[in-house]
Amino acid sequence: METCLSRTGGSNEPSVFMDSEWKEFNFNVFHVWFMPVSFSSPGKIILFGEHAVVFGEAAIAAAINLRTRAVVSEYRENRFNGFPLRKDMRAYPYHSFSLTGATGKSASVESSIPPGGGMGSSAALSTSLVAALNNDGNEAKTASIAFNVELGAQGRASPLDTSTSAHGYGVFISSSRVSSEIWSISSGTVTWHIGHVDVGRMTVVAGYTGSGAATGHMVDKVRRLWEKYPTARDAVSEIGSISQDAMKALRGGDMVALGRLMDRNQRLLSVLGVSTKELDQLIDAVRPFSYGAKLTGAGGGGCIIALTDRPEKAGEAIAARGGIPIICRTGEEGLRREGHEG
Ligand code: PMV
Repeated sequence: METCLSRTGGSNEPSVFMDSEWKEFNFNVFHVWFMPVSFSSPGKIILFGEHAVVFGEAAIAAAINLRTRAVVSEYRENRFNGFPLRKDMRAYPYHSFSLTGATGKSASVESSIPPGGGMGSSAALSTSLVAALNNDGNEAKTASIAFNVELGAQGRASPLDTSTSAHGYGVFISSSRVSSEIWSISSGTVTWHIGHVDVGRMTVVAGYTGSGAATGHMVDKVRRLWEKYPTARDAVSEIGSISQDAMKALRGGDMVALGRLMDRNQRLLSVLGVSTKELDQLIDAVRPFSYGAKLTGAGGGGCIIALTDRPEKAGEAIAARGGIPIICRTGEEGLRREGHEG
């Protein structure tokens, strides 16, 4: 026999809960308070403009179909992937916890993005973790906090990676006004305007060298060259104008022009000292099957990307040179709330 419970605990009001309803009420309250919160966000490739973007030049990036997922639940202390949070552990989780003011949270993260490969693994980690710690999927807010996580972890950064991971699809960024602006983010003397770009569903083959360099170290290296050599400063601004031209080629769907611009961008990245012998070899290997190819991300290792309509051939060429081919698709959505099961 079901008992009736009073919502207000014994006034003259009629009883409102049957026993089964009371259990359901408790179940819902439990889930609102204790249910794990989960968000995922995508990795990215930088099609044009890495490094130059740190100086405010234009760049274009696209989200790809590799994602990182963060799950956060209540706990008696802050933990990351099962371990208590300490400053000397990975800097990105540490700064994500600290900038969201999280207390008593246990976070775990799983990812299909190669770490340190220039495919946005740290941006996807910061973006999904910040959103899950805040239990808030607001893209602009998450992109801004996640950018500050990257700044804290790397010392220097642009908001390109974190904005791409939060927004998804494609992103054009510049210190001048952009069309279809979605948000702007400032740091020091630079304000970056970030706009949506429709990159469509392109197939891009990445070639992973198997090793990477710390982004902060590579960014510092370019900064030193930029301060010392006019040729480095020219290279940075030429990369910015390549990104502007690439926007026109993207709008017109002109793959041949895009490929040529990628090749030019790669030559300038070599001038800035961020390409390596291994990256150059993978680029040479994919050239016969591609419109164009370049490194993506910070360089010093990591990945190349090739724009191709023969992905299998490009992938085989990468593998034959000892690289790890990853066939990716653009057009991926950004930050996404996930179900909590599994
Ligand atoms: O290698 P990644 O995924 O960390 O990309 C770095 C991109 C840079 O332009 C070199 C730095 C930045 O913050 O924009």
